[in-house]
This record gives sequence, C-alpha cells and structure tokens, in this order.
Amino acid sequence: MFAEIAPRYDFLNHFLSISIDRLWRKVAVARAGACLKGKIRPICLDLCSGTGDLAIELNRGLNVPVVASDFCHPMLIRGLEKIRVVGRDGFIPVIEADSLVLPFANETFDVASVAFGLRNLEDAKEGLVEMKRVLKPDGAAIVLEFSRPVIPVFRQLFEFYFHHVLPHLGALISGQNSAYRYLPTSVRRFPAQRELAAMMESVGFKDVGYRNLSGGIAALHWGIKK
Ligand SMILES: C[S@@+](CC[C@H](N)C(=O)[O-])C[C@H]1O[C@@H](n2cnc3c(N)ncnc32)[C@H](O)[C@@H]1O
Repeated sequence: MFAEIAPRYDFLNHFLSISIDRLWRKVAVARAGACLKGKIRPICLDLCSGTGDLAIELNRGLNVPVVASDFCHPMLIRGLEKIRVVGRDGFIPVIEADSLVLPFANETFDVASVAFGLRNLEDAKEGLVEMKRVLKPDGAAIVLEFSRPVIPVFRQLFEFYFHHVLPHLGALISGQNSAYRYLPTSVRRFPAQRELAAMMESVGFKDVGYRNLSGGIAALHWGIKK
C-alpha cells in the first residue's frame, strides 16, 4: 500500500492536513531534544520513517545523527532523495528493515521515534517492545500518531472530514483507492491517548506522558526506558 502511494505521499500529507503535520513533527523534535539533554554523542532512530520527514527534522533541529528505517523501498528512495536535497546525506543513514525485527543491537539509541507508523504495525505493542529493546537505559521513545479529538463539536466536524471527505480526496489524488479509506479505519482501531500511554507503561516505559496536538487530532506520547 505504501509503495503505491509513495509518489504522492508527501504532497497528500501536507495537503490533507493543510501542513499542520509539519508543526506536529516540530513538537516531536522539541520533545526529543528535551530527552537528549545531557547525553554524550547521542544517536537517534526514526522507525517507520517513510520518506524521512521526521528523521530530517530531528537531524536538522537537534544536530544529531539519525538512522531512518522503514520496510518500504519506494518510500525510502524518496526519503534518500530528500535527504540529499537538504544536504544531509551522510548524516541520516537509511536502513530497509521491519520495525518489528529491527537489525540493531540492544541498547543502541538514545531516542527512538515513530511518526504515524506505530498504528500501521501488525502489533503496536510489539513495536513498542522492539523500540525499547534498541534504546539505551534512560533512552526515550517518542510516538507521534493520530488520536481522538477531545473537543465535542470539533470532534464531530473532524470525524466527518476524516471519514467522508479525506478518503475521496486521497483516492482522487493518489490514484489508490484503499489507502485513504484505511487511514481513518486504522485510527479508529488504534488506542486512544490514555490507552496508548497505558500500553507504553505496560511494556516497561516510565515517566510516560502525552500531549494532544490540534485538539487531539494527533497526540505526542513519550516514555523513558527503565
Ligand atoms: C504513514 S507512513 C509514516 C511515514 C513517516 N514516519 C511520516 O511521518 O510521514 C507509515 C510508514 O510505516 C511503514 N511501515 C509500516 N509497517 C512497517 C513495518 N512493519 N516495518 C517497517 N516499516 C513499516 C510504511 O512503509 C510507511 O512508510
């Protein structure tokens, strides 16, 4: 599915969210920066990195090496091209890998981030376990994901857009029928803010917290490896 939409993925991301996704990634980078304070020569992993937007933001915003991994070749190819265009090649190695079986040793990274990826894994909890495995002790997991709007009338308006407008626009522009129908369905199945925080705690993260973004359309979760 991601291979099919890769050519239009970035455009649609920014178009369908009126570019608010860029702001959400900046909030994620700020949180990662706070978690990296005091770390010596830190290194980050951005998994399910797709076309690399968060990996690039992390690298540029925090000036740290970031490994970008994803299992979708066409998404990574686009990511590599973007990394080259912004002049960061050499600082953001790109690895083709399944996020549920990451090819990294235990305790490798200071931050493991995932943006709009955890929801797509066969098992989100297993994804968190794998993130925890590759984090150093006191390393931070950062999860940016669609969530549940918390303001009543706004929630209904957004749900209408998300379920009845976005899938048609997505299909029209990407030429792929199912991907943008899958998006709202997958968000509905994904744990809401509190459940995701509880899931992070259940796999062994401490100091778990979250922040709603744009009224809860998305949420940023974080947790520290015990
Ligand atoms: C919605 S995109 C998000 C891309 C990027 N993180 C962003 O913020 O735009 C989800 C990505 O997760 C990747 N993905 C889904 N399941 C995966 C898995 N098991 N292993 C690695 N990547 C996976 C897809 O290939 C896709 O690139």
